[in-house]
Amino acid sequence: MNKQEIVTTLIGKKKRPQKSSGEAFAPSNIALCKYWGKRQEQLNLPVTNSLSISLGNKGTYTKIELSSLPKDEVYLNSFVVEPTNRLYIALVEFLDVFRPAGVCFKVTTDSNIPIAAGVASSASGFASVIKALNDLFTWSLPGRSLSILARLGSGSASRSLWHGFVEWNAGEDDENGLDSFATPLTNLWPQLRIGLLLFSTKPKHISSRVAMVATTSTCPFYSLWPARITAAIADIKAAMQVHDFAKFGTITENNALEMHALMLSTKPPIIYSTADTIWGMEQVWQARKQGIEVYFTQDAGPNLKLLFLEQDQAIIKNIFPMMEVVEPFKEI
Ligand code: DP6
Repeated sequence: MNKQEIVTTLIGKKKRPQKSSGEAFAPSNIALCKYWGKRQEQLNLPVTNSLSISLGNKGTYTKIELSSLPKDEVYLNSFVVEPTNRLYIALVEFLDVFRPAGVCFKVTTDSNIPIAAGVASSASGFASVIKALNDLFTWSLPGRSLSILARLGSGSASRSLWHGFVEWNAGEDDENGLDSFATPLTNLWPQLRIGLLLFSTKPKHISSRVAMVATTSTCPFYSLWPARITAAIADIKAAMQVHDFAKFGTITENNALEMHALMLSTKPPIIYSTADTIWGMEQVWQARKQGIEVYFTQDAGPNLKLLFLEQDQAIIKNIFPMMEVVEPFKEI
């Protein structure tokens, strides 16, 4: 099935919107056990499951209205996005699969996280767009369908429909991917904190989409990854269940380093870390030697996200004064 057929399966025949506008917020999410590699590129079907934590009130708010112009209008953080911009192109391509004939949209989107700097802005972006479309067209779709549709925009967006811990089940069907969607996990951990260490907010030099394909096709160690992820997800769930923070942090940090090790051995190598990233890692390891329970994770960018508990916030803030602290369970 192509994207269009999947959309028809989930929402039925296209109708014009019943409302004049639809709006929604979706949180950004950070994978603790990463999605890295697709078994089918067109539908963003992953090789493995992945598990994330959403970033509370950090994310993207999107409003979609009908436009009177003959083309889509897109505004991001109060600026016009030009049709030549890659964000515009990606968004219009996504909207096209939902668009009834003759309809143009005005999309106003505001993000309080850096765009394309490895802080999962595309995840909250596509998730907020699909929720806003659900509102505009009054589809009243269940979370599972919204997750499948958000995935068509970006894989990690399938996890941004919920707050808290979320697991994306890879599924097995390569034909329509209707079994590849995320579900929220019920575990709560109110003391958990995420520290954002934004070393750079510049767009990444190679998109995760391109980097993933390069890794799966040229990294000699990629065949080891699926079993590593399966074990990491089982272990992290056990740690979440009993709030074993040292185990939780260790699994997360190791999983990020293993993903970057795959990239390092990709041909040609992909390196997202900068000198600042390595400096941040060393500070974390130094802190742990002194008995401070702090761990990091890193996505497709130079920035680090720290994991720690509320009780250690002040001491960690002393080490990283520029860190922004997120309380992921505050919104639940
Ligand atoms: C490192 O979801 O951005 O953040 O499906 O091609 O849009 P596409 O990729 P994307 O990749 C995210 C990669 C990651 C890990 C993760 O979020 O699980």
